[in-house]
Amino acid sequence: MPGSFQVRSFPDAPQLARGAATEFSQLAAAAVHDKDLFTVVLSGGSTPKSLYSLLAHEPWCSEFPWNKTHFFWGDERHVAPTHPDSNFRMADEALLSKVPVPSENIHRIKAEEPDPAVAAREYEDELKTFFKLSVAELPRFDLVLLGLGTDGHVASLFPDTDALRERDRLCVANWVKKLNAWRITLTLPVLNNAANVLFLVSGVEKAEIVRAVLQGAGTQTYPAQLVRPANGTVLWLLDRPAASLLGE
Ligand code: 6PG
Repeated sequence: MPGSFQVRSFPDAPQLARGAATEFSQLAAAAVHDKDLFTVVLSGGSTPKSLYSLLAHEPWCSEFPWNKTHFFWGDERHVAPTHPDSNFRMADEALLSKVPVPSENIHRIKAEEPDPAVAAREYEDELKTFFKLSVAELPRFDLVLLGLGTDGHVASLFPDTDALRERDRLCVANWVKKLNAWRITLTLPVLNNAANVLFLVSGVEKAEIVRAVLQGAGTQTYPAQLVRPANGTVLWLLDRPAASLLGE
């Protein structure tokens, strides 16, 4: 049975981050209560940085089940973990280096690997090992956190790129022509097998794409619109500027 689909907006970015931290923590508590484990896919970019920073502070930090949480990434730039563009580095600086999460619970994409296809395959193998997947079985993450690009991309599933059409692999290298760069990304089947997907979108520059994705009557299908978990919930958390064109 398809899960719920909700859109919530907050007056500004700080209140959005607080709302997201509360939602994130509640999902973690529920997962740990049910199965003594919380598996979460972090998103990159800039929006989630304030969420990650909040989680490292009270009232969220001391209550959070760090030792029962396993962190994964939805995508990574093809750079070393020390590179300024690294999604791992951003999350590590904002959160992971500040909280008592065991190092073995941090499953970063090893994007320093010179061949991005090898990095993707290695991450796929890590997922298969961690989730003890049988052949063709998909991992089911408790939470997948996603941002939204102004072109409607999620993770590194950019419009008109090969990864967007991938239906068999769990993780692939994706050449993004507009960026002239390789990315490593989870694929749609993995995102759509999540128990909960949380979109976190902030800023007036996202208002147009938010309207197009959530209300679009146009012909284009954006990658974000392909995230429809068959058996999971979708929650959009927006600040008022990002939500400002909804309903028009
Ligand atoms: C990345 C992200 C990407 C991001 C969007 C939005 O690697 O950049 O995974 O999907 O979520 O590009 O980025 P901002 O939050 O910086 O707008």
